[in-house]
Amino acid sequence: GWKMENVLDEEIKVIKETVGPDEHVICALSGGVDSTVAATLVHKAIGDRLHCIFVDNGLLRYKERERVMETFERDLHLPVTCVDATNDFLSKLKGVEDPEMKRKIIGKEFISIFDAFAHELEKTLGTKPSFLVQGTLYPDVIESCPPPGSGSTHSHTIKSHHNVGGLPKDMKLKLIEPLKLLFKDEVRLMGKILNVPEGFLKRHPFPGPGLAVRVIGDVTVGSYLDNLRLVDEIFIQSIKDAGLYDVIWQAFAVFLPVRTVGVQGDQRTHGHAVALRAVTSEDGMTADWYPFEAKFLAEVSQKICNSVRAVNRVSYDITSKPPSTIEWE
Ligand code: XMP
Repeated sequence: GWKMENVLDEEIKVIKETVGPDEHVICALSGGVDSTVAATLVHKAIGDRLHCIFVDNGLLRYKERERVMETFERDLHLPVTCVDATNDFLSKLKGVEDPEMKRKIIGKEFISIFDAFAHELEKTLGTKPSFLVQGTLYPDVIESCPPPGSGSTHSHTIKSHHNVGGLPKDMKLKLIEPLKLLFKDEVRLMGKILNVPEGFLKRHPFPGPGLAVRVIGDVTVGSYLDNLRLVDEIFIQSIKDAGLYDVIWQAFAVFLPVRTVGVQGDQRTHGHAVALRAVTSEDGMTADWYPFEAKFLAEVSQKICNSVRAVNRVSYDITSKPPSTIEWE
């Protein structure tokens, strides 16, 4: 019968046959399930001739860099170079308000950092890396071949930012896509067999541009990003404590660039507003807002305003998709 263990063994065999004994492979880890499972699989096949990069773009969630690096290194023993490119990304995003412009800038910056990594590696190894691992899934393969006559679709547009990569220009890398015949739940199963921690496999999807699409407008103003991280962490922790994390598709906070008047302590404050969003969904194409109990929302709101001084107003997003998108930008 059909067994994931057999699929796994077969994939490892194919990778071993594909990559020559002196050849090297590079991979960009996004912190998501797909690239992590793909890299772990390739690592099983060719060991430390795999070279991974994880880029901290300054747009990650609370302690995310530390948390994913711990999984990569301690749990999975992946050879990963962590690059802190916070300043590169944020300096280019300064003053930029348009969401699509933000996405373009982030995509472009990512490619240039990946490019530098690949060239640095070439110097160290004395040879060019020959392959690039990508965590492409079967649905991505189908979506990138729309039926003839169909125009370009919204989901197609989104997919164009999905891949963290784009190829380093002059490297002529061949692709290894070990997950391209699998669906998401099969990737999770494969991850489980490869000892990827359960908690990691169940993480909500997180967009490539990260918190840049969750701070409305210019993301570099004041401490907007830091405040968002604190608020988001409180919300997510509360959802986990309530045992609701796994029934929700995505949950997150959004930082709003408006000032609002509040009373905190015995003082009137001129602070900031945040929105919380949580949705259920099958595939991200449509989504319903999640009907938390009022008591839960009241407690979260109180916790946020008590611990994040800059925030004096919390709202909950009660729109589904459509007409809204899941992200605010
Ligand atoms: P929307 O907001 O369009 O999102 O309803 C649908 C799903 O896609 C994610 N998303 C992105 N993922 N790059 C990504 O990698 C992006 O630019 C991007 N924009 C939205 C979103 O989080 C949701 O899961």
